[in-house]
Amino acid sequence: MAEWIKICEIGSLKNGDLVDFDYEDKKILIAKAEDELYATDRICTHAYADLSMGFMNESEKTVTCPLHMSSFKLADGIPQNLPAEQPLRKYNLKVQDNWVYILIDDLKSI
Ligand code: FES
Repeated sequence: MAEWIKICEIGSLKNGDLVDFDYEDKKILIAKAEDELYATDRICTHAYADLSMGFMNESEKTVTCPLHMSSFKLADGIPQNLPAEQPLRKYNLKVQDNWVYILIDDLKSI
């Protein structure tokens, strides 16, 4: 059965935010771009870089790695340029009663 974990209040997230969220050993990136919320893996698929330290292009809805500058689509985690070739895993989010939740079954199935 799906289990949702509370992350933060929706009002604490601004457009352009890249927020880190840890659950057990999973490092998750929460992003808000043009009023949409996204959740992906936070560690770049090329090497070890934390994407919450990267750069968001809000209109393109991408996050760019701070180390070698690969950009990933927030919606599906697909890299847009080398050197990263593998996609980031994406996670399901929902907003309920002004709180943002992430689907825990997604995290356990990694
Ligand atoms: S570590 Fe992210 S592109 Fe190299």
